[in-house]
Amino acid sequence: MDDRPIGVFDSGIGGLTVLKEITEQLPGEDIVYFGDTARIPYGTRSKETVIKYVLQSFRFLMTKDIKAIVIACNTASALAMEEAQKEFDIPIIGVIEPGAKAAVSMTRNSKIGVIGTEGTINSQSYQRKIRKMLPSGEIIGVACPLFVPIVEEGWENSDVAYMTAKKYLLELKEHNIDSLVLGCTHYPVLRYTIDKVLEGKVTLVNPAYETAKAVKALLKENNLLSSKLDGGVQRFYVSDDPEKFKRIGGNILRTEIVSIEKVDIEKM
Ligand code: DGL
Repeated sequence: MDDRPIGVFDSGIGGLTVLKEITEQLPGEDIVYFGDTARIPYGTRSKETVIKYVLQSFRFLMTKDIKAIVIACNTASALAMEEAQKEFDIPIIGVIEPGAKAAVSMTRNSKIGVIGTEGTINSQSYQRKIRKMLPSGEIIGVACPLFVPIVEEGWENSDVAYMTAKKYLLELKEHNIDSLVLGCTHYPVLRYTIDKVLEGKVTLVNPAYETAKAVKALLKENNLLSSKLDGGVQRFYVSDDPEKFKRIGGNILRTEIVSIEKVDIEKM
């Protein structure tokens, strides 16, 4: 048993979709969340920059006596997981592997779509992981950069979201995919719109949910589960003004964010 908190990291607010799944599956765990809101988006940045930001963010989380780190951000998992694992001696889990595994287990026709930021799709991280497990598979990746701002505006169920999704997902529809990895923290919020565009014919894989399952297994395996069965406490840290995070974040979590502080991340 280990009652220290889990560190959850994201480029901003989207990682709350992962935090939400973790609190549902592991309600006794305390969580320290860091969202790098001053430097979001990561999805359009170079690998070097993302690595630098991730290492700084981890240095901050390590000051909070955490027992493991979850990289909730798909872009950061895709571009900086290896470097983070080299630099920090703590169990680290990203979203790519759990998401890829679930897609492979769910597909029936071996045609899998992956959507994410430009950084995630161009890195080929999901595509490579899936291909390794399913060499005969057809994997089609599409970057959907407008989805993040749509979700941050709270427009996930609007006409704008529907039209945008229709355009991005056309190629995937034409390839007759039967499963689609929602490879970005914000995309589970758009699942109803995505499902509507795909006419309910495609299984949507939510890496946030799959990652929470993997976190539970990892803690169990390493004897790191909290002794509490519920009542886990969440503390939030951000690198920019906490107010926006509180407002949009409260919407994603469907509960008020109480404990939140600003951090000067450039100092780390
Ligand atoms: N959190 C990022 C991801 O999952 C999306 C936002 C960003 O571009 O930083 O890829």
